[in-house]
Amino acid sequence: MTSYSQPPEVVLAGRGIGKCYGEGPLASRALHPTDIEIRRGEVLVLMGPSGSGKTTLLSLLGLVLTPTEGEVLVGGWSAARASADELARLRQRRLGFVFQQFNLLPSLTAVENVAVPLLLGGVAWPEREARAARALELVGMGDRRQARPRQLSGGQQQRVAIARALVNDAPVLLCDEPTASLDGETGRGVLDTLGRLARAGRAVVVVTHDERVRAIADRLLQVVDGRVVPAEVPGVAHSANAAPPLAPTHRRMT
Ligand SMILES: Nc1ncnc2c1ncn2[C@@H]1O[C@H](COP(=O)(O)OP(=O)(O)OP(=O)(O)O)[C@@H](O)[C@H]1O
Ligand SMILES: [Mg+2]
Repeated sequence: MTSYSQPPEVVLAGRGIGKCYGEGPLASRALHPTDIEIRRGEVLVLMGPSGSGKTTLLSLLGLVLTPTEGEVLVGGWSAARASADELARLRQRRLGFVFQQFNLLPSLTAVENVAVPLLLGGVAWPEREARAARALELVGMGDRRQARPRQLSGGQQQRVAIARALVNDAPVLLCDEPTASLDGETGRGVLDTLGRLARAGRAVVVVTHDERVRAIADRLLQVVDGRVVPAEVPGVAHSANAAPPLAPTHRRMT
């Protein structure tokens, strides 16, 4: 894997990343080549109309999709020519993904659900349980660790899903519509949780249609017709939305 020197606070970046779905005459462009940086301790919010490319961009950043052009840098390491094993390791150690529909396993307790990603790392159960319990504490769900998903409200299930994304101590949390299926009160609880995690040093990217998310945004970008454009955040200088260019140097991972 190639690494690039970039400011230490940049934990995730896309350099010219774009995406076409399909090939040949059936190809359709979902995202034009885009530069984007995500920094430690910030909440970056991506808004925009349905079908504009938000989930595509988040999935590229989360190494869930492969870009048609450009490359994603995770902690300075380029994912472009990484092997399948290296990609899995980057995803597991550096990135946490929170899905709109929680995707919790119904037969497992909260603590067992949160511990699932640790299975991949070969961690033994007592440690998996201890780490999962700590992640649940972080999202205010420490007292519900033995509950199964059906015994929890939507907001509580979403907080368990956030804990699962945090359990590997990933520095970046990528959230796709995390409040979409939640009512006002529970949605606000989840947003508070995401804001607190950013203040504690995580980088949080939130894709949303929910105007309330503006309240926790440090930076707001809009995705319109597959292009990323700055958007105004009350009280935040406009220039703060523009990402400075990356300085590449070539170093090989050993
Ligand atoms: N797997 C796919 N194959 C083909 N086209 C796709 C695929 N996934 C998304 N698209 C298309 O790419 C474009 C962007 O989709 P994307 O899901 O990124 O939008 P979005 O901004 O997340 O929308 P929403 O707000 O409705 O979730 C859309 O035109 C969509 O139809
Ligand atoms: Mg989407």
